[in-house]
Amino acid sequence: MSKPSLLILPGDGIGPEVMTEVRRVIDWLEKEKDISFDVTEDIVGGAAYDAHGTPLHDDTMAKAQEVDAVLLGAVGGPKYDALDFNVKPERGLLRLRKEMDLFANLRPAVCFDALAAASSLKHDVIAGLDIMIVRELTSGVYFGEPRGVFTEGNERVGINTQRYTTSEIQRVARAAFELAKKRNGKLCSMEKANVMESGVLWREEVQKIADAEYPEIETSHMYADAGAMQLVRAPKQFDVIVTDNLFGDLLSDIAAMLTGSLGMLPSASLGLPMANGRPKALYEPVHGSAPDIAGQGLANPIACILSFAMALRYSFDMGEAAALVEGAVEAALADGLRTPDLMTVEGGTKVGTTEMTDAILAKMAAA
Ligand code: NAD
Ligand code: IPM
Ligand code: MN
Repeated sequence: MSKPSLLILPGDGIGPEVMTEVRRVIDWLEKEKDISFDVTEDIVGGAAYDAHGTPLHDDTMAKAQEVDAVLLGAVGGPKYDALDFNVKPERGLLRLRKEMDLFANLRPAVCFDALAAASSLKHDVIAGLDIMIVRELTSGVYFGEPRGVFTEGNERVGINTQRYTTSEIQRVARAAFELAKKRNGKLCSMEKANVMESGVLWREEVQKIADAEYPEIETSHMYADAGAMQLVRAPKQFDVIVTDNLFGDLLSDIAAMLTGSLGMLPSASLGLPMANGRPKALYEPVHGSAPDIAGQGLANPIACILSFAMALRYSFDMGEAAALVEGAVEAALADGLRTPDLMTVEGGTKVGTTEMTDAILAKMAAA
């Protein structure tokens, strides 16, 4: 049987730094567990702009469509801030998501015991936290038309359009309900049906699916602003949260801080099944290119390593290998190892990007 294929796109800033660490995990699995992938690497974001004048070359897009899974580091950075909007690094990532039709973005937020003190919230509020945000990723205000900056009389006007169709809402809702079924049977949908018609439609469609297909799931609805407040006040009331593209972007950054750091949060962006039955998939940490720490060996590699673990689970049916990686991360943290983003007043042993991975690999070997 041919090996599963993986396209690695390190990107910009700390992207290549954390991806180097993921490659060490991949190499370890090959050497020690005989699990191997057909890995190819390419460029995206600012790196692709520098090389080709576009943040995503058509050849790279075509490769992404062919492989079993894509793993992306991060894109963007101050060097590219002044670029024309359509060639900004972020456009490369958005094109990947849109053309691969990756409508369901799974952003789990798990608070590892050892990190309960690294969160800005009280221990009791976040200890044992395990929630899953499902963010719609290919529609909404990120892609709606009309959009652009126009001139109206003496004024300039910036326009983006929030737009959802019933089928777009239904397919992401179903993905979220399916996850809720495998987890704690609870789903909360968030929008702003009090002020947005798209929110009214969102709420109606989610409820219809709940009634018709998932009566056993405890379904609730919340305005997204109240949801943001509840995520900080009492996050453990949630299991699966399903929400639109923009609210999901904001709510998942909030959820990141419940776990201790943005450097901890992985994600999986999933689309429709391919001919081989695997879903189209792109895995990436929730964090960005972190220009403030790039090039210093300080980045936390865990979000990217856990994103690879999600690939093992969701694309390759390698739940055991995924659990091995996740368990090793937990064990390294339990030993008190902390990249600077995880340091708190309670201390721990300060390590850099490479040392954190050394420890994770050692735990994998010892497991
Ligand atoms: P960011 O996530 O890059 O950084 C926010 C803060 O979190 C910074 O202080 C950073 O040092 C810290 N941080 C993030 N990841 C970390 C890690 N792994 N280890 C330790 N600390 C970490 O967000 P930003 O500063 O708002 O954006 C910087 C650039 O990244 C922008 O160009 C933005 O568009 C882009 N971005 C890209 C993605 C992506 O590629 N998926 C996601 C978010 C932002
Ligand atoms: C994310 C990022 C992206 C988004 C940007 C970089 C396009 O913030 O993945 O959370 O807004 O979706
Ligand atoms: Mn974001």
